[in-house]
Amino acid sequence: MGPILLASSKRAKGCRVWRVALIGCPSKYNSAQTPTDPRRGRTGAIPVTDRRLASLSQRVFNFSPGPAVLPLEVLEQAQEEMLALPGVGISVLEISHRSPAFDRILEETLHSLKALVGVGDDHELVLLQGGASLQFSMVPMNLLRGFAGAADYILTGTWGELGAKEARREGTVHSAWDGANVNYDRLPSDDEIRLSPKPAYAHITSNETIQGVQWKREPSVGDAPLVCDCSSDFLSRPIDISKYGLIYACAQKNAGIAGVTAVIIRKDLLGRSRDDLPTMLDYRTHVKNGSRPNTPPVFAVYILGLVCRWVRETMGGLAAMQRHNVAKARLLYDAIDASNGFFSGHAQPECRSDMNITFRLTSESLDAEFVKGATGRGLVDLKGHRSVGGIRASIYNAMPVEGVEALRNYMLEFQRSHS
Ligand SMILES: Cc1ncc(COP(=O)(O)O)c(C=O)c1O
Repeated sequence: MGPILLASSKRAKGCRVWRVALIGCPSKYNSAQTPTDPRRGRTGAIPVTDRRLASLSQRVFNFSPGPAVLPLEVLEQAQEEMLALPGVGISVLEISHRSPAFDRILEETLHSLKALVGVGDDHELVLLQGGASLQFSMVPMNLLRGFAGAADYILTGTWGELGAKEARREGTVHSAWDGANVNYDRLPSDDEIRLSPKPAYAHITSNETIQGVQWKREPSVGDAPLVCDCSSDFLSRPIDISKYGLIYACAQKNAGIAGVTAVIIRKDLLGRSRDDLPTMLDYRTHVKNGSRPNTPPVFAVYILGLVCRWVRETMGGLAAMQRHNVAKARLLYDAIDASNGFFSGHAQPECRSDMNITFRLTSESLDAEFVKGATGRGLVDLKGHRSVGGIRASIYNAMPVEGVEALRNYMLEFQRSHS
């Protein structure tokens, strides 16, 4: 699929029309534009009734690391309900957060998310604001403040480092393993992890979004509560919640849009929070008030609910979702591995992420040419993070296999034309 430009909109015979210019777009994405299309008027423009098709045909494959691609079904349902929620008559953007309509949305979202992830009686689930970055502070404020031991951080990339930096403001941080000297290209084995005596908790980042390394098992941390920043692989695979003291994840990768962050906390750990915490930074406030101590991000909660339903009903749940994600990632890793060094992956093969595929070509100028050519084909946001360079293809839950195949085909073609 190629880039598509919405060139202009005009009025013709009293009706608003869109003129859409498509460049290099295969006909299956371009059906509304063919000269024989009966929907075209004499002006050659598309009438307003086909605006949906026109905007659909503008969609490119979005490899952004987040905010990221959303399921089309979710976007369409949100669009359908945008003017008036069925039976309510008010847009979700306008309803009161204390209305019965939002009561239902919040209750259903919490219920669906709990059921999907498998949150049992030992844990609480709350929805917060402030993104995963606020959790970098809230976790140590609630679990480390006043605690005799250190907080242990297993550092496998940039996000873990940022979390540890915030925890240092609150208390002692012990680096139980730090992959900085290997440029964060791998995870530690259990014997490499050096925990402090009786840590307040041990923190991992399940998927380092920038480096593209992912834990597919939990490290062995003894009795320390395991705390996990799950932001970029939440809802992409099943997790055994009983192994975790606390999990946090912003929504804007696999679970929806920016504005809402899920926190799952073991109930006994709530006893660690001290009364000198600011009210809104105390997990107990959010638990006590059912994720609604003040005005929650209503729209983000609504979208999270729709995404949970999509994962469960359309994709078949988290185990099926994971199979789908593994198969997509394999398409790209196979192309990297078969390229005889034309493409080289950043992460060691056994630590590779199924979410963020990081690789580079043989020079920075080829990286740049690759990204530019990809954009020209409607494969967008592939440039790697500035700290790692190269290419990063983020292929979260909602990236269709067709998008990954299009990227794989482009990689093969690019290699052929540059070898
Ligand atoms: C693993 C991880 N942790 C934390 C963050 C920060 O999230 P937020 O922007 O919601 O604070 C990100 C964002 O990309 C991330 O990928």
